[in-house]
Amino acid sequence: MIGENYIHFYDIDSTNNYLKNNWRNLPSETVVRASVQNSGYGRKGNHWSSELGGLWYSVLFKPKSRPLNPWHYVRVFSLAIYDTLAKYSINAKIKWPNDLLVNDKKICGIVGESIITGKVPNAIIVGIGINVNNDIPYHLKNYAVNLKSLIDKEVSVEKIMNEINHKAYNSYYLRYLKEKSVSVITKKWLKVLNIKINDEVTLINLNEKKENVFIEKITPDYLEVIDIDGNIKKIYAGEISVRKSGGK
Ligand code: BTN
Repeated sequence: MIGENYIHFYDIDSTNNYLKNNWRNLPSETVVRASVQNSGYGRKGNHWSSELGGLWYSVLFKPKSRPLNPWHYVRVFSLAIYDTLAKYSINAKIKWPNDLLVNDKKICGIVGESIITGKVPNAIIVGIGINVNNDIPYHLKNYAVNLKSLIDKEVSVEKIMNEINHKAYNSYYLRYLKEKSVSVITKKWLKVLNIKINDEVTLINLNEKKENVFIEKITPDYLEVIDIDGNIKKIYAGEISVRKSGGK
């Protein structure tokens, strides 16, 4: 069960860092939550603001068999969070590859990391940050939103975490392990993504250079896009940000 082994800190540098340093001594599916993180980070090492009131946690997996690809573990959580928000009447979208947006504003970010010492990952860490009751910093108000403002009340972060973990384990993770259902789960993920085939999107690289392209194909690992000169290229998750043209 996800969270059967549960560790809570009032404050820590980062729950992902904690698992990176301690994964050897902890069982698979350990959950580490912190009320406050002093050096929370997201994809591409971006700073992740982690003030009191938000849900900041990481989950450890030590895969003995499939799936080995960390993106599958991240997808388990994007779908479980999507379903959990729906229970609170929130209609979110999954922003490719794995953030959750409500009305184009970010409510949740997920980062997946693998620890590889041989050919396959020894450990996979999924770090989840959800704006629940935490105030959104002023400079992020146009880009981020919290659950409290959407449903007009505070919700216990532990309750939400347990709901997500329960859903992740029973509806997605066990199916990934037991059945040949990677494609079924991927199909559901494609349905709730914020982008579709033929959409025009803006790619933003690490130097903030922007380019508008059209989407030809969406796969779990990459997007195939066509640029204005007709060149087709593959965009791998994590290398580049993808925004809907005209969106945030
Ligand atoms: C992103 O949007 O880039 C992903 C953000 C992930 C933040 C979470 S908060 C809990 C865990 N610990 C971290 O340092 N990062 C993740």
